[in-house]
Amino acid sequence: MNLHIDLEAKSLGEILIVDDTIESLQLLKHILSDAGYTVRLAQDGAMGLHSVLRRQPDLMLLDIKMPDIDGYEVCRRIKANPVTSGIPIIFLSSLQEKSSLLKGFELGASDYINKPYLAEEVLARVQTHIELRHLRVDLEAKLKVRTSKLETEILERQEIEDELRLSQKKLQNLSAHLEDIREKERARIARELHDEMGQAFTVMKMDIARLYECNNIEEKFLKERLGALLGVLDQVADTARAISENLRPGMLDVLGLNAAVQSHIEKYTLCTGIKCLLTMSHDEFVLDDKLAIALFRILQESLTNVAKHARAQQVEIQIFRMEHKFLLIIQDDGIGFTADACSKNGFGMIGMHERVRSLGGEFVVESNPECGTRIEVDIPLQEQLE
Ligand SMILES: Nc1ncnc2c1ncn2[C@@H]1O[C@H](COP(=O)(O)OP(=O)(O)OP(=O)(O)O)[C@@H](O)[C@H]1O
Ligand SMILES: [Mg+2]
Repeated sequence: MNLHIDLEAKSLGEILIVDDTIESLQLLKHILSDAGYTVRLAQDGAMGLHSVLRRQPDLMLLDIKMPDIDGYEVCRRIKANPVTSGIPIIFLSSLQEKSSLLKGFELGASDYINKPYLAEEVLARVQTHIELRHLRVDLEAKLKVRTSKLETEILERQEIEDELRLSQKKLQNLSAHLEDIREKERARIARELHDEMGQAFTVMKMDIARLYECNNIEEKFLKERLGALLGVLDQVADTARAISENLRPGMLDVLGLNAAVQSHIEKYTLCTGIKCLLTMSHDEFVLDDKLAIALFRILQESLTNVAKHARAQQVEIQIFRMEHKFLLIIQDDGIGFTADACSKNGFGMIGMHERVRSLGGEFVVESNPECGTRIEVDIPLQEQLE
C-alpha cells in the first residue's frame, strides 16, 4: 500500500495516449514512462473517451486519424463536457497541412507533435503542458478556497447588515415612542397646570379680591379666609412638587442615588405590595449625573415591568460600586417571559438597553418561568471619567 503511494507521489503526471497504432503507443509509452510520467493507453476514440471519464488525466496525447471516432471528434466531445474540458490535449499528427492543425486548435487543442517522434520534442512539449496544467489546477483550487471564504464573508456581512437594519429600525421606533411620550407628558402637565393650579389661583384671587373690598372685617372671619387660602396654597405647592418630581426626581439631585433609590422602593412596595430586598452600600455613591439618572430610570422601568408583567411576590435589588464598574441587578420571582415576547412588545427594554449602550456598558436579561426575570446592568466607570 505504502509502495503504491510512493510510486504515485513520484510520478510527474498522468498522461493518456489515444492512438490506433500499437507501435506509436508503445514508443510514446516508453519515452514518457522513462521520463517519470504515469502512462495510460487507449487504442481507439471510444476507449479514449471512456478512459477520460473514468479518471481525468493531466494531459492527453491524441492521434487525429483513427477509425470510427477520429481525434477531432474525441477532442470536441472532451471540450464540450465541463468536467473534462480543462484537460489539455496535444494532437499526434503526421499531417503536415496547416488546415488540419488549425482545425485542431479551433476545437480547443493546446499543441501538436509531429510524427515521426523526436523524444526531446515529445518530452519538451509534454513537460510544458503538464506544468501548465498543474499550475492551473493549483490556481483553481486556491480560487475555490478564496471564493468560498468570500462567500462566507459576504454571508456574514449580510447578517451584520440585517442586524444593523433591525437595530436602526428599533431605534427609530424608540425615538418615535419617546417623542410620543414627550407630547403626552406635555399635555398632562398642561392639564394639571390648568385644572389644578389654574383653578386654585382663580379661587385664591377671588377670595383675596373679596377680602380687599371688605371694610371692617371681623378678625375671626379674616382668619377663616386666610386659613382656607393657606390650604389652597398647600395644594398648589403639592401639585407643583409632584409635577417637578415626575419630570426629574429631585431627590436624586439633592440627596443622591442611594436616597432616591430607597425612597422609590419604599413608595413602590406601598403601592404594589411587592416585597423589595435591597442590597446597597451605605456609603454615598459619587456618580456622574448622566450615570445616576440612567441607573435610576433603569431601576424604575424594571420595577414597573415587574409590577405590570411578572406576577412576582418579591424583587431583589442589588447595587454595587466596584473599583472599575457599577453593577445593578434586579431579580424577580415572577413568571418570566420569552425572547419573542420581549422583542414584540413595548419600548422599556429597548430604552434601558440604549441607555446602557450609550454609557459603554452591558445589559443582560435572563428570564424563564422557574426563576423569573433577572436584569443585570454593568457599566464601566473608567469610560465615564474619559
Ligand atoms: N419582569 C418581567 N416579568 C415578566 N415579563 C416581563 C418582565 N419584564 C418585561 N417582560 C416582558 O417583556 C416585554 C417587553 O417589556 P418592555 O418593558 O419592553 O415593554 P412593556 O412593559 O410591555 O411596554 P412599555 O415599557 O413600553 O410600557 C413585556 O411586554 C413583557 O411581556
Ligand atoms: Mg415596560
